[in-house]
Amino acid sequence: MTAVIMDGNAVGKAVRGRLAARVQALAKRGVTPGLAVILVGENPASRVYVRNKVKACTDTGIHSVLVEYPADATADTVLGRIRELNADPTIHGILVQLPLPPHIDVDDVLATISPSKDVDGFHIESLGALLAGKPDFQPCTPHGVMEILDHYEIPLSGRNAVVVGRSNIVGKPMALMLLGRDATVTICTSKTRDLAAHTRNADILVVATGRPRMVTGDMVKPGAVVVDVGINRDADGRLVGDVDFDSVKDIASHITPVPGGVGPMTITMLLANTVVSAERAAG
Ligand code: GUN
Repeated sequence: MTAVIMDGNAVGKAVRGRLAARVQALAKRGVTPGLAVILVGENPASRVYVRNKVKACTDTGIHSVLVEYPADATADTVLGRIRELNADPTIHGILVQLPLPPHIDVDDVLATISPSKDVDGFHIESLGALLAGKPDFQPCTPHGVMEILDHYEIPLSGRNAVVVGRSNIVGKPMALMLLGRDATVTICTSKTRDLAAHTRNADILVVATGRPRMVTGDMVKPGAVVVDVGINRDADGRLVGDVDFDSVKDIASHITPVPGGVGPMTITMLLANTVVSAERAAG
């Protein structure tokens, strides 16, 4: 049997349609949601991501401000601008695109963003709220994965969920979100012994390692739901995930493709967080 393809473009479009209606309702009250995106340096992938985020804002009726700095900008310059944006009533969300140049301390930058405008959900306060089971702004990629799972009505309670990857941006918050829905969660890392023994136990398998096609069909339980967070280029320059789609699609019950799976949901949840922030500001 071939797996159901979980279509992030379609789920994202549906969510964005609902957001556009909320943006219109805010407009009637004289409020336009505003997102500031800060980009430091020339990382080509970051440029593409930032361009896509700005375009998605425009398409949804969200005002966006792109603040660009050269790679040698000082930390003080960036922190100073974040403080200005914290105080700017037309801005409801602030996002600093990662990675930053090595001379800028990412923890300082994230800590300077006001938690009330932390639409990326990377501030320690936002992550702590998630840990405490009282989520506020949630990191966009794992939040988008939850939207996809819910859209396809994947049951989570009591099921074995395995997350491969432990980043603060994806793996750890993903595990907490699944735990919050009463899944039995295992987090695997690059140090995990016999990774396949863990992944084969997964009813829901989320892979976020940054290693192209590392999860193959023999590592997946028949009927499992497989979510691929990876975006990599293979030797031929093609976009591929962390999951070997061709060998897994005949074993899983559901699978996200790359591209067109989790990727579109990350930006969608950023827009959602920005709209929520604007609604709060509007009272
Ligand atoms: N770099 C890679 N993914 C992300 C993201 O979701 N947000 C930000 N700010 N930087 C990133």
